[in-house]
Amino acid sequence: MQNNLRPESMKRITTKELAEAFIEEQIKEVREQVGDKKVLLALSGGVDSSVVAALLIKAIGKQLVCVHVNHGLMRKNESENVVEIFRNQLDANLIYVDATDRFLDLLKDVSEPEKKRKIIGAEFINVFADEARKLDGVAFLAQGTIYPDILESIKQAEGKKAVKSHHNVGGLPEDLKFDGLVEPVKLLFKDEVRVVGEALGLPHAMVYRQPFPGPGLGVRCLGAITRDRLAALREADAILRDEFDKCGLAEKVWQYFVVIPDIKSVGVKDDSRYEGWPAIIRAVNTTDAMSATVEEIPYAVLHKITARITAEVDGVNRVLYDLTPKPVGTIEWE
Ligand code: XMP
Repeated sequence: MQNNLRPESMKRITTKELAEAFIEEQIKEVREQVGDKKVLLALSGGVDSSVVAALLIKAIGKQLVCVHVNHGLMRKNESENVVEIFRNQLDANLIYVDATDRFLDLLKDVSEPEKKRKIIGAEFINVFADEARKLDGVAFLAQGTIYPDILESIKQAEGKKAVKSHHNVGGLPEDLKFDGLVEPVKLLFKDEVRVVGEALGLPHAMVYRQPFPGPGLGVRCLGAITRDRLAALREADAILRDEFDKCGLAEKVWQYFVVIPDIKSVGVKDDSRYEGWPAIIRAVNTTDAMSATVEEIPYAVLHKITARITAEVDGVNRVLYDLTPKPVGTIEWE
């Protein structure tokens, strides 16, 4: 672990010029490391894997094989955007796998949060491994490991316990052997990864994307996931994000999303009884995700979001705002 530590002499990457120098250096190192061999990357569309993909495309072009697994728990248009940017704009060698049915079938009737997380994490590895086995001559695995991940694994090795089981690609099956890992941003902090991403020409919205958990909407569609409630969650979340974009809150708030619990209440629509789910809004600010405060969303914005969600989302008849800081609530509900 010791040689994974960031040298004290390493400058923080805060400007485009520093980022460009870092990119040049990494391109050289990666080319030296992998030669003419192929490199495989799980491209989730998150900041870290996207920056690694863009960097490796620059360094080794089509020798990089990206696999994007859509587990059916992505936000609205998210997988489509990954395909648009990486395949259509950056000309990446991208394999897109729509594994929605595999995931949702396995998750059917599973309501226990940790069980859901474990199923999603394990199936993600299964789908990724299935794709990797179909490929010939892949020698290296690239990962979007960043410096806080290294620090976190040091903490875990020291026996400190996590509250939730976080999921990232790791623990691939034994039969999948690689000559080595390619982790070009492993010594960078998140803000530095973003500066590098912008210098690589990735879209601002992708580089400054709010954090999104590996299990995706799966931990926001509470209890046993159903396709209709998941669809409602995806639509309501898209409306929240759209309204936050329009009023400038998207640039200010650290993380904001919708949660839909597995309960219904009585409402009224078109003079008839209308039973529906509540959509719960969460909008929090934090520096390290260990504690968080709740954003004071202006009432006018809350009213607008409520009006749109109840009018546009099938099956939702109430909107609630979660005022709980962390602690005592965690940021995600599951
Ligand atoms: P909690 O709910 O523990 O969340 O307060 C803290 C932060 O972590 C994110 N989160 C995850 N990120 N894989 C991830 O990469 C996961 O499995 C996962 N679960 C939660 C959460 O969105 C929040 O930003």
